[in-house]
Amino acid sequence: MGSRICFLLGDEERRIEGRSPSETILHYLRTAERLTGTKEGCAEGDCGACTVVLGEPDGEGGMAYRAVNSCIQFLPSLHGRQLLTVEHLKGADGALHPVQQALVEKHGSQCGFCTPGFVMQLYAGWLTGEAKTRQEVKDWIAGNLCRCTGYGPIVEAGVEALASGGNGRAGEESTAARLAAMDNQAMLRISGRDAEGRAQRWFTPRSLDELAVTYWGYPDAILVAGATDVGLWVTKQQRHLKVLIDVTRIPELGEMEETESHLSIGATVSHSKAAERLAAIHEDLGELMRRFASVQIRNCGTVGGNIANGSPIGDLPPAFIALGADLVLRWREEVRTIALEDFFIGYGHQDRAPGEFVERVVVEKLGPHSRFGAYKISKRFDQDISAVMAAFRIEMEGGQIAAARLAFGGMAATPRRAKAAEAALAGKPFCEESFRAAAEALGEDFAPLTDMRASARYRLKAAQNLLLRFFLENEADGKGAALSVLEVA
Ligand SMILES: Cc1cc2nc3c(=O)[nH]c(=O)nc-3n(C[C@H](O)[C@H](O)[C@H](O)COP(=O)(O)OP(=O)(O)OC[C@H]3O[C@@H](n4cnc5c(N)ncnc54)[C@H](O)[C@@H]3O)c2cc1C
Ligand code: FES
Ligand code: FES
Repeated sequence: MGSRICFLLGDEERRIEGRSPSETILHYLRTAERLTGTKEGCAEGDCGACTVVLGEPDGEGGMAYRAVNSCIQFLPSLHGRQLLTVEHLKGADGALHPVQQALVEKHGSQCGFCTPGFVMQLYAGWLTGEAKTRQEVKDWIAGNLCRCTGYGPIVEAGVEALASGGNGRAGEESTAARLAAMDNQAMLRISGRDAEGRAQRWFTPRSLDELAVTYWGYPDAILVAGATDVGLWVTKQQRHLKVLIDVTRIPELGEMEETESHLSIGATVSHSKAAERLAAIHEDLGELMRRFASVQIRNCGTVGGNIANGSPIGDLPPAFIALGADLVLRWREEVRTIALEDFFIGYGHQDRAPGEFVERVVVEKLGPHSRFGAYKISKRFDQDISAVMAAFRIEMEGGQIAAARLAFGGMAATPRRAKAAEAALAGKPFCEESFRAAAEALGEDFAPLTDMRASARYRLKAAQNLLLRFFLENEADGKGAALSVLEVA
């Protein structure tokens, strides 16, 4: 059992206790460490000004590094990890790092407020080598906003600096060994007080059984996975989080298993890690993941969190419901499996008992007679929440539609299937007439709301047209045959 958060700040050891477990890494850096290079812009994961790099042992003797938004990550997430900020990039001789040098040479900074965030995001790419082409660099920095320079010079700097990326960090082996020595793998139990002096507790169980028992003992606790929702409850809603249980250090929850017919994704698999496997099921899922938030958010946010938060506008639930997915839940030793669509009962209400948690989601892969499409409609291409999210799976048999699963987000209080539209397709030929009938039937399935993202009329129209688009993309002659007829009367 440990009660101190032990980590490396750069290459210096820190063992801290007595601080609020819901204090953000950004707050700690700027107030306790007086490392003020890392900036606060939005305090909600949107602008990237607070980007830092977290490293952890990769299990093979080296380190795995990723960029995260320090404004919404809690202090205990540092345990057993290395935290790198813009202050740690300076060479011994004071020389700029290549990503900084490239930003200088390409004129990638004006007021400079966003610059440390861009530097750290690019630095993460320089370490890992994950972004090399121009498009990859653009995707890589989609979670960093700059209001005065313009992205052209920043992209140029990124392309130049990351072309030779994949270098890792000097001394990775000894860093990994030091971190391993600092973390005895025991359950972390932290007590502290929030800014108002209210008592708080934090637990980091290290096995499924420890999680089940701890959550059973504190059924009102808040489970924390990637904290990309929960972090905002603190920074934006100033909520008092009394007891928190971190679910991210349990090996089984971070695993993916694959058979010929199914992909099983542990609840704490991050979006970054799930992306490749999902893209292998269908290219639209790869594109969906590319547009899911930003690299920093995808590095923390989990598949389980995207389901368990019960949001009507989460991106993955409609895609998984259309594919045909089961959700595995656990309460103490009891494990039960339900169809994912049955998990969402009503707005803010899911089929989850106190003390019960999501263990994994099991997704059915596509077969030779399946047709699939997933579409995200949002105001911005990158880093935006859906106004409408649609995913369709059709099973063909003898030239007819044998079965249809049409799932939508943003159309109701929960992610839901469109049963009337599905019925309109079942047993019909794969032709325009069938899909026009199904599009009309969507009006029986949904009475969407008007909110700041879209009007009710827009949502219904978009959903109907997505169905027609799916038909056109999947006509016998392939993608996008006649997109000009894309309008429901
Ligand atoms: C800037 C920004 C952009 C975003 N963009 C998108 C987007 O494009 N698409 C999208 O769908 N979402 C988006 N989100 C929302 C969020 O990132 C995702 O929903 C993410 O998957 C949540 O996962 P998490 O691990 O961070 O959850 P957390 O914040 O840790 O938890 C979310 C909820 O799930 C519960 N929970 C977590 N794990 C479990 C478990 N195993 N069992 C039971 N309950 C659990 C928590 O108690 C909490 O109620 C965005 C968020 C931000 C801040
Ligand atoms: S301050 Fe904007 S993403 Fe953290
Ligand atoms: S340089 Fe001013 S916000 Fe980017």
